[in-house]
Amino acid sequence: MSGEISVLFVCLGNICRSPTAHGVFEKMVQDAGLQDRIRIDSAGTGAWHVGESPDKRATAAAAQRGYRLDHLRARQATAGDFSRFDYVLAMDRSNYGDLESIRQEGSSARLQLFLEYAARFDEREVPDPYYGGADGFDHVLDLVEDAAAGLLSHIRERHL
Ligand code: 4NP
Repeated sequence: MSGEISVLFVCLGNICRSPTAHGVFEKMVQDAGLQDRIRIDSAGTGAWHVGESPDKRATAAAAQRGYRLDHLRARQATAGDFSRFDYVLAMDRSNYGDLESIRQEGSSARLQLFLEYAARFDEREVPDPYYGGADGFDHVLDLVEDAAAGLLSHIRERHL
């Protein structure tokens, strides 16, 4: 199959978890030379942080592993995202429910929990690290790296 595949990562604020997923998946896609085939974005269900850079703790934890997040800016997810993206991937069940409620009937996107693509971890939700310590951001990265690798394999097998 040819054509572009598009992926939107969604959390609550779009400053911690979904930008982390965005930055990690972006690097994996670039390293695989697939940046012209896979379009990536992230968004939050809430509007509190629209226009902001990712949380400094998320950016620092990601940088430790060689991922850049500093070019990202928060935006709010919209109903239109369900026609602009093939995959809309929620970080937790609350995000999933909020996305289901703005989704319009007949939209083409596949809405899933991102961690459905994880293989090493059994968890299916990426815990919100916003009110916790630095180790929470490392755990987010562990989960996100696992699921991002699974997602890339899935897209390669199914679409590319
Ligand atoms: P995120 O984390 O959903 O992973 O970006 C949060 C960021 C901000 C807030 C909550 C979660 N907040 O309440 O402002």
